[in-house]
Amino acid sequence: MGPARFALTRTPCAADAEAPQRTDRTKVSAVNAAARPFGSTAGGPPTALNDDNWDISERVCGRTVRPMSGDAFAEFERAGWERAAARYEEYWTDTVLFVEPLLDAAGVRAGSRLLDVACGPGFVSEAAAARGAHPVGVDVATAMVERARMRCPDFTFVVGDALRLPFPDTSFDAVTMNFGILHVSQPELALAEVHRVLVQSGRLAFTTWLAQGNAEDEITEAALAAHALAVEGPEGPSYHVFSDRDECRRALAGCGFDTGSLRMDTVTALWRVPSADFLFQAQLNAGVRTAAVLRAQPPDRLEAIRAVMANAVRGYADGEEFALPIAARLISSRASRPAGDGQADRERQ
Ligand SMILES: C[S@@+](CC[C@H](N)C(=O)[O-])C[C@H]1O[C@@H](n2cnc3c(N)ncnc32)[C@H](O)[C@@H]1O
Repeated sequence: MGPARFALTRTPCAADAEAPQRTDRTKVSAVNAAARPFGSTAGGPPTALNDDNWDISERVCGRTVRPMSGDAFAEFERAGWERAAARYEEYWTDTVLFVEPLLDAAGVRAGSRLLDVACGPGFVSEAAAARGAHPVGVDVATAMVERARMRCPDFTFVVGDALRLPFPDTSFDAVTMNFGILHVSQPELALAEVHRVLVQSGRLAFTTWLAQGNAEDEITEAALAAHALAVEGPEGPSYHVFSDRDECRRALAGCGFDTGSLRMDTVTALWRVPSADFLFQAQLNAGVRTAAVLRAQPPDRLEAIRAVMANAVRGYADGEEFALPIAARLISSRASRPAGDGQADRERQ
């Protein structure tokens, strides 16, 4: 689930030609995020996000959570997920559809010590524990961690930043990030941190949305392009970060991963949604980047976007539901060098 990606170039990459895996569960993904400042193309000057239409600091669970200083995108994402956490599970049932392939790719089995980075409400941790693994979830949003603790009171979930993981070196046999990499301001720093906490030959697996084959993405993007006023926001990574094989190989190698063990698979699924309005409501009520754009729209444009999206979703009617095809890249690799070398390399730079 995700934010709106506006006017992203849809460039097929080599891995798109690979035979897709198919989950046996229905799924759909959400919309996308911008590779550049928010903006859509329906004309007019961009609307700047400000305290009237987007909170940066806010009261969360009885205390004021301060954004990380100096990283506008990280601040924006953290605040957005604090806001979205309450309704995340209600709407974003799509990410769950990739959990089992993700755990398989990470080699998670009974006894594995797993770190579930950007854990959200704890879907990955929950499934890992069902395999007999020992999961620890970490998420930057306090409200997400509280949701995870409520859902899975027997597991450990901590508030922490993927860019500064609060764990010692070589603590985990496996690390997963299910649709987390696209939400961190410095994806390669997150990969380096993952490498640091993995044991040698420990396995990382993560997912990121594909540009092609995502009805959810296409529907939202088309509606925004047609009707949304441009909205400025902090610049973040592409919604499809690391979906390109060469880019992914370079980034992982630079962080100490063994690219000989690199796998990039395409996983597709169907996301079954109960109403034609569901995708719009999900974006508005439980998204971050797209939600920011929607909330900045005047009522007439918001209604036009809603109507276009609902009409497009109707094209995927399947009985009383709607089945949206979605697709993700599933990437996995082993940590090759002894953990610590990567840290030393970074300190030398
Ligand atoms: C799309 S949700 C994915 C949640 C979950 N992994 C799932 O499978 O549904 C993205 C998550 O990334 C978290 N996040 C964003 N930036 C983060 C960061 N810098 N460090 C840790 N978590 C972060 C958000 O709080 C949110 O819970």
